[in-house]
Amino acid sequence: MKHTARAAALLAGCLLTLNVNAQDFDPPTLGWSSWNTFALNITEDVICRQADAMVSTGLAKAGYKNINIDDGYWNGRDSNGQLRINTQKFPNGMRVIADYIHKLGLTAGIYSDAGDNTCGSGQKEPWGCGVGLAGYEEADCHTYFIDWDYDFIKVDFCGGNHMSLDERLQYTKISKAIAKTAKEKGKKITFNVCRWAYPGTWISDIADSWRTTGDIYDDWKSVKSIINENLYLQAYTGNGHYNDMDMMEIGRSMNENEERTHMAYWCIASSPLLIGCDMTTLRQSSLNLLTNPDLLAMNQDKLGIGAPVIQREGEVYVVAKDMEKLHGKKRAVVVMNLSDQEQTINVDLSKLEFKGLVSVHDCFTKAETKAEGTMKVTIPAHGSQAYFMKGSRAMRHLYEAEEGWLREYQELNANRITAHPAEASGASKGAYVTNLGTSLLNYLEWKNIYAPYTGYYDITIHYACADTRGLEIRVNGFVETGFPSLTTGSDDSFNTVNVTLKLEKGMNSIRLNNPTGPAPNIDCIYIR
Ligand code: GLA
Repeated sequence: MKHTARAAALLAGCLLTLNVNAQDFDPPTLGWSSWNTFALNITEDVICRQADAMVSTGLAKAGYKNINIDDGYWNGRDSNGQLRINTQKFPNGMRVIADYIHKLGLTAGIYSDAGDNTCGSGQKEPWGCGVGLAGYEEADCHTYFIDWDYDFIKVDFCGGNHMSLDERLQYTKISKAIAKTAKEKGKKITFNVCRWAYPGTWISDIADSWRTTGDIYDDWKSVKSIINENLYLQAYTGNGHYNDMDMMEIGRSMNENEERTHMAYWCIASSPLLIGCDMTTLRQSSLNLLTNPDLLAMNQDKLGIGAPVIQREGEVYVVAKDMEKLHGKKRAVVVMNLSDQEQTINVDLSKLEFKGLVSVHDCFTKAETKAEGTMKVTIPAHGSQAYFMKGSRAMRHLYEAEEGWLREYQELNANRITAHPAEASGASKGAYVTNLGTSLLNYLEWKNIYAPYTGYYDITIHYACADTRGLEIRVNGFVETGFPSLTTGSDDSFNTVNVTLKLEKGMNSIRLNNPTGPAPNIDCIYIR
């Protein structure tokens, strides 16, 4: 019986991998949004000229499609609860604009709030008070997607905060209203959640993408802080559901190196790419960057996965992800220098899971080179290099806890103490995972552990805990083994235990937890 269940689980695992490779989901949204440049100063003319520019600049041809109207187009509701539009800014209503956008071969996006008032109304301007979705979920979806024919919606949370709504309940209610309208319309509607922090793994079940941070602004400091906040969120992007790192500031005041890092990281992390500048006055260097076909291919890759940190030296990060096929020959690699000085790093190709000679394609210069062992890269302050690398793959040995999938991880409620990454100088790559355990669901899982053949592997677990704690280990969903009492005498001085586990050829999952009490802090596992 157990074996039948196990075979079924393995089959399900294989099917999951096949699904990923066959891509039955949408890639991250490519488009433009009005907020960063125009804020509340939007008009019919502004939106239509941006749509024209998306076509005339070649951005549409490169793949950008959405023209998204952000906050600021309403004028309250009428006595029947119907949304009223600001007719000074939008004299012909909102449907005309969607029609205009569609005629250009593009798709149209609109904006609302999960609660009552919109962010831009400051909770007091009558034009934006009461225009949110709370209490009008189905009626407004009908207006936006059927009457006005929009294809995308971003749903903010200022009004949600104002009404003290529960994010999960309210966004789920909205997602049901969207799904119902999409069914009626017979067309997909893309749902973007804007709650300024990673909401929890439930969000993948209801939204196409979700903001992970507060608002971006046109400055390197902001871009750098968003990158830092997203480094350990990469496991939550996948299967057509994406971390949204916010609308881009490319084409505004940042220098070329900073723009390169901004674009390269948004691309490799599979974030939606929403241009935030004025496309009618876009300078050539920014246009070239936004339409760089290699970077766009990296972003739109059919695996749709995030890119964990592979190597870190100070503020230089090597991040990478598989392209086209999990554990195939091709990988995307971005080397970012977030520091204020030029830096040189020897990129370790074995940490990138390559063996032997590696072909390296430079996504900026298009130069083709070969490398073996290590690759020396010098990068100016705030700059990046981006590559496609191809070669024979080696088995990956090191899996960091902070890049694993934490089932209960969320950033909405700091008091809800569930598992989360933390930093310690003694931890591998400076980070580990703490607060695991005490419930069946508060676990850490690596979902894609590649084994070259079916057989037994030695696993070394790096852990720490001041008191004595138990640890349970599951492979592909089944409890394999565990340790009843582990301790290192300190919560951040790490020690190791070894275990032998059977892995199946191909992708496996390994889960660490203690369902009945706190689990040790986990730094990483090493597989041989
Ligand atoms: C919030 C969002 C922004 C933008 C504004 C509009 O701050 O995070 O992206 O939509 O509201 O008021």
